[in-house]
Amino acid sequence: MRIYKTENYDAMSEKAAALIAAQIVSKPDSLLGLATGSTPIGTYQKLVQGHRAGFFSFADVRTVNLDEYVGLSPTDEQSYRHFMQSHLFDHVDIANENTHIPSGTASDIQEECRRYDALIDAIGPIDLQLLGLGHNGHIGFNEPGSSFTLRTHAVELSKSTVNANARLFSSREEMPRYALTMGIGAIMRARRVLIEVSGEDKASILASAFAGPVTPEVPASILQLHPDVVLVADSAAMRELEGRL
Ligand code: F6R
Repeated sequence: MRIYKTENYDAMSEKAAALIAAQIVSKPDSLLGLATGSTPIGTYQKLVQGHRAGFFSFADVRTVNLDEYVGLSPTDEQSYRHFMQSHLFDHVDIANENTHIPSGTASDIQEECRRYDALIDAIGPIDLQLLGLGHNGHIGFNEPGSSFTLRTHAVELSKSTVNANARLFSSREEMPRYALTMGIGAIMRARRVLIEVSGEDKASILASAFAGPVTPEVPASILQLHPDVVLVADSAAMRELEGRL
């Protein structure tokens, strides 16, 4: 694993964006696995800036997102499709048909999971998978206890995840309790994994993930077994991991 420790969130975003930009420059038709949440917002801003400055193009880039809430339509402001449009896709020259996110409103959820896996098989492997880290160690919405071999599946969100994400909804009741997520099996098949982590509130779980035992109770710990992981974390998030490496 390669680790880049940065001074703060802004520098973390800069470093992660530079790594993604390098991936696009070296392989213009890269398949990027993308994440949502607070952590990658700065990274997407830097990518938009780099694109506008003419450093690289998304014209041939293809993307698959990790997850989507069940029940939210793509136009819902809380949906992950809406997040990706407003933070990245609407501001770069990516082709809409090259961006993929599981559908949270599919009438047959199991069929949607199969469709998404078949899509990843057809256009994969993922060249670079971007991840954030949940406070309970989840990656995507693979919650503690989930099997390391699953592919796309529906999950009931844990209390910890509902607590963490409800802040983004106008009330806790509005927050969906189920999501579709790419499984750890698919994440582990990516050629490279780039995980970014920021803030003191993630210091303890980051240390458990990379210096503790590999266990389904800390889903991100499986990344210790991936051959090409890059961790970009700010100094606040690195506080506990540093002393344990
Ligand atoms: C989002 C995702 C989640 C987040 C994680 C951290 O697509 O897959 O695993 O990366 O919940 O979220 P933030 O960045 O909001 O702390």
